[in-house]
Amino acid sequence: MTRGNFNKCLQSATSWTRSNTANGLQRQQSLLEQAGRARPIAIIRQQTAAASNIPYDNARRQQSAQALKRRAVITAVVVAAATLTFATRREVHAEAPPKEPDKGERLIRLSEIHEHGRNAEKFWVFKGDRVYDITDWVPNHPGGEVILRAAGGDIGVYWDIFTIHKKQEVYDVLEQYFIGRLDPQDLVDGKPPSEHVDDPFSTDPERDKALIVRSSRPMNAETPASALQAYLTPVNTFYVRNHLWVPDLGNEDGYRLTVEMIDGEEKQYSMKDLREKFKQHTITATLQCSGNRRAHMTAGSRQTNGLQWDVGAIGTAEWTGVRLRDVLIDAGLDVVNLDEDVQHAQFAGAEAYGASIPVDKAIDPRGDVLLAFEMNGQPLPRDHGFPLRVLVPGHVAARSVKWVNKITMSGEESTSQWQRRDYKCFGPNEGSNPDWDSARAIQEMPVQSAITNVRQVPQDRLNNSKLAQVYGLEEDAIILEGYAFSGGGREIVRVDISADDGRTWRQAQLIENDEKGAKAWSWKQWRIALPRREAMRYFCVKAIDEAYNTQPESFEAHYNFRGNLASGWHRVPVPKSTD
Ligand code: MTE
Repeated sequence: MTRGNFNKCLQSATSWTRSNTANGLQRQQSLLEQAGRARPIAIIRQQTAAASNIPYDNARRQQSAQALKRRAVITAVVVAAATLTFATRREVHAEAPPKEPDKGERLIRLSEIHEHGRNAEKFWVFKGDRVYDITDWVPNHPGGEVILRAAGGDIGVYWDIFTIHKKQEVYDVLEQYFIGRLDPQDLVDGKPPSEHVDDPFSTDPERDKALIVRSSRPMNAETPASALQAYLTPVNTFYVRNHLWVPDLGNEDGYRLTVEMIDGEEKQYSMKDLREKFKQHTITATLQCSGNRRAHMTAGSRQTNGLQWDVGAIGTAEWTGVRLRDVLIDAGLDVVNLDEDVQHAQFAGAEAYGASIPVDKAIDPRGDVLLAFEMNGQPLPRDHGFPLRVLVPGHVAARSVKWVNKITMSGEESTSQWQRRDYKCFGPNEGSNPDWDSARAIQEMPVQSAITNVRQVPQDRLNNSKLAQVYGLEEDAIILEGYAFSGGGREIVRVDISADDGRTWRQAQLIENDEKGAKAWSWKQWRIALPRREAMRYFCVKAIDEAYNTQPESFEAHYNFRGNLASGWHRVPVPKSTD
């Protein structure tokens, strides 16, 4: 089967999805699954950008069972043929170093490639010194139109971010669209000069120097301990967790949020619509990355995959916006007689990130899920989702999708890898290639606590302080401070501190706060003063929530190779005496 025939067949098999072409392969997959033929599509998924970090999440419309079956058969034939074609084609490793152009190969100038950017009729990219016309591929790219970011330039820089493309199957797909080589007169040392290579992070915003950077491209940085002392984390030092670049969306005027119901009905909202049409709400909520304290799991158990966060992948802010529930009702969702096919609210971010939450949370009047546009009374900063983000209080922060521009009511979870893979926990024995579908996506958070400040206070400086009085202290003391948090709106009711590695405990003072919202969505800060003489080698903290959930003593029992939800007792060494 030639490439042209293959594309024609694929197009006819998917023509019913043309209105949202990026869904093509995804829909074919569910059709095949229904026809009991999932394997071929699994193969084509790999061959395309399927295994990419790019999500497959887009709308799924309801189809009649018969129509689904008919289409599944057509699709299965097409996919099987395509699989055969790919399997028998010669292997061309696109990472191969440049070589002299073959006779008859077309030489293409960089300037000509730049003319085939995202606004052109034909989309060209290069990788190494090979040039491809990917126009026919774009509609079938499972990650959707994000691929157009690379149009007119080097696709390699994006594959360095979406590293899962770096496999022979994907190189093979690209090779089908080969049209020529870069003209050697444009190359320096065999490579295109850097000014011709797109930098996806070049429009990222400036960041506060006090953030503790764990990776800069994409930006991942944690809140410094000093900023964790405040109940509301200052916006400029609020931790940043970006999987990709920060989309440059200009001002909010051109911004549109599309809400799609399960029957495919869509409604669009401008920021003005959202602000004016719906009641605004402010809630106080803690966002915590599922990787917070991953470094402690690594140290307390064994190596984990992912950024090695300390205690600062967490922060609390006042978020202002409109209720997701209200917008969904306005867009046509009947929340009283909810269609039982509607199970999840999927969110897509403007750069390509995606995630979802169960519909029950999305429409719970006491669930406080917001489409937020303000953080601590200021417009959302770009790093935190300007102009609009989802804010799902009590859930893992990975579901609070930034730069949200599409919400889809669906029978299934978002198919993004951040929903289906990364933010899950597997058994301590399970290795890095588990059955991804066997584990549940993380939603509500477990109990967490950490010590963020340890201070020695000599007796003469205690000054009869309130804290010293509470604990009846008239001797050299150590003051500890920190945070405690639980998911699902479950309030923290107690924080226990040990100065002798867990043999004996005392209760910390929970600091009053001015929390807003239907439930306890924010952390509790705590403080304790202990006699210096009692402090042995380690201080430990554990918190207890209103359901009497607490934290495990060590990390081994809840070890998972992704290092998610690390919540073992936080231990910090007792400082050496200042005497
Ligand atoms: N939304 C988009 N669009 N892109 C992202 O990379 N990261 C998620 C979530 N929402 C992410 C996103 C993760 S994993 C976390 S922990 C939080 O955003 C971090 O939010 P923050 O950067 O505002 O602290």
